[in-house]
Amino acid sequence: MRQSNIRPFGAMPDGAPVEEITLAGAGITAAIITYGGAVRSLTVPDRTGAPTDVVLGFDTLEDYRVQDKYIGAIVGRCANRIAGGRFSLNGREYPLFVNNGPNHLHGGQVGFDRQVWTVEELRENEAVLRLVSPDGQEGYPGRLEVRVTYTLEEKSLSIFYEARSDADTVCSLTNHSYFNLSGQGRGDVLDHRIQLCAQYYTPADRQSIPTGQLAPVEGTPMDLRQPVQIGARIGGDFPQLLWAGGYDHNWAVDGQPGQLRPAGRAAAPDTGIAMEVETTMPGIQFYTGNFLAGCPAGKGGARYENRSGFALETQFYPDAVHHPGFPSPVLRAGERYAHRTVYRFGLD
Ligand code: GLA
Repeated sequence: MRQSNIRPFGAMPDGAPVEEITLAGAGITAAIITYGGAVRSLTVPDRTGAPTDVVLGFDTLEDYRVQDKYIGAIVGRCANRIAGGRFSLNGREYPLFVNNGPNHLHGGQVGFDRQVWTVEELRENEAVLRLVSPDGQEGYPGRLEVRVTYTLEEKSLSIFYEARSDADTVCSLTNHSYFNLSGQGRGDVLDHRIQLCAQYYTPADRQSIPTGQLAPVEGTPMDLRQPVQIGARIGGDFPQLLWAGGYDHNWAVDGQPGQLRPAGRAAAPDTGIAMEVETTMPGIQFYTGNFLAGCPAGKGGARYENRSGFALETQFYPDAVHHPGFPSPVLRAGERYAHRTVYRFGLD
């Protein structure tokens, strides 16, 4: 498959080529690299019509390989944390790679964000990427075949995740784009307004491991049901926010998991760019880039500091495999995993 919208983007140490795909839809363009399946740019018009790149990213493969912030990447086999870096399934204990204090985070040492995906199908507005995660990778049971379809439509990016395993396993896939709706590299996101369609969130301990409760947001700074400026309460003395250094929590998206429904909305006052998120997943992690500082210079020499972007990671709840009360992230052998998340852009 050789098309005009795919070009070389460097090579891995073993020589494996990495490519970049550019996709175009109505009023939106994107660049996707096969390293981590990462969204490297996403451009939409601001209120004056000027094309604005609203995601953080890097100019070279080397920079992607050096950073450890999951910038733009597809995260798996299991997004977010698994307490103690182990779980049991069907009476067997599976130790995983431990990479976040005593816990497992975002698929381990070489998660899906650090692997080279294969381009399986390519159209002007759509790319299908494929990855096979062998049995035992990072400690997970089962050979997992994953397909991720990126589709650009009318000012929207849709990400469709499909997976199948030959043995029972755990699977929760997300995309870890950091958005800055003022334009990447243009300062912090504290003046953005955020809104999450969630009456409940999952309070966590100091290591960001959920306690297992579903707590009402009502009466707390976690109540984002009405639009709130990101900076308004982020530095308050609410323990959840203090422990995480800002927002880095999972909200239980209202409505029925499995159905595509509104999960959140964000907007920047200067550009007027607004983004709505819809998902079939049970939860959404709202993360304000609390430990984003310390990566290489971004696209065009941009400096990324804490709060230079925010992520809205649709997912099963963190550590769900240990909480029978949470929707289960267990994918049974032969069953089809299918989830969709849509990022829809407009003007405020
Ligand atoms: C997620 C986690 C954060 C952090 C980032 C990556 O959002 O919840 O704690 O690990 O990924 O830096």
